[in-house]
Amino acid sequence: MDTIKQLEWRYATKKFDASKKLSKAKLNVITQAFNLTATSFGLQTIKLIVIEDKKIREPLVEAAYHQSQVLNASHLLIICIQKNIEDDDVKNYYNNIKDIRNTPENILKPYREDLISMMQGMSEQVGQQWSTNQAYIALGNLMTVCAIEGIDSCPMEGFSSTKYDEILKLDEKGLKSVLLLPIGYRAEDDMFATFKKVRKPIEEAVIII
Ligand SMILES: Cc1cc2nc3c(=O)[nH]c(=O)nc-3n(C[C@H](O)[C@H](O)[C@H](O)COP(=O)(O)O)c2cc1C
Repeated sequence: MDTIKQLEWRYATKKFDASKKLSKAKLNVITQAFNLTATSFGLQTIKLIVIEDKKIREPLVEAAYHQSQVLNASHLLIICIQKNIEDDDVKNYYNNIKDIRNTPENILKPYREDLISMMQGMSEQVGQQWSTNQAYIALGNLMTVCAIEGIDSCPMEGFSSTKYDEILKLDEKGLKSVLLLPIGYRAEDDMFATFKKVRKPIEEAVIII
């Protein structure tokens, strides 16, 4: 596997081949990669919604400024954040650690209490921004995994989060959409696939001290 070759191969795909579907195995890699994404404290206040059904996706195109990737891709991934972070999120997380690692309660207790008070100290807006930061890490991780797996993708923040939340009734799930990632396989005639990558010279982008 040549990592750089795959990162050069990937591009923000504008036109997907609507007839090409991702296999269950490939989709499984993507969902697992999402769940393996590192998050601050490991709290995972983000959620991935995977939509294959085109009927559900149809009204989402207009709400993404008519970007057709949303419909033509094999699957549409929506990265969401929790609207609120509750004490139970922290408690469930520490219960999970206890179950998985057999960590004694006396060791976990102070960490759990610290994290609960830290989360309580965040306003709803600050908490949502904090979760949004995690969502971007997940986006980057998924884009790289897609590249390595030979899956095309298009990172997207060009959509109306309010409209997506309404259409998909995300409010009822306590979620807010923050990022889209249509995934699948590029159409043969997507001209963007042939464009050269535009990046700063490496010496300008990286400072080595
Ligand atoms: C956070 C983020 C949001 C983006 N939103 C959109 C979008 O809404 N629509 C789109 O076609 N491309 C979108 N892009 C793609 C960028 O324009 C593209 O990644 C960038 O120009 C570099 O090109 P490349 O990915 O093809 O190498 C987005 C990229 C990122 C990282």
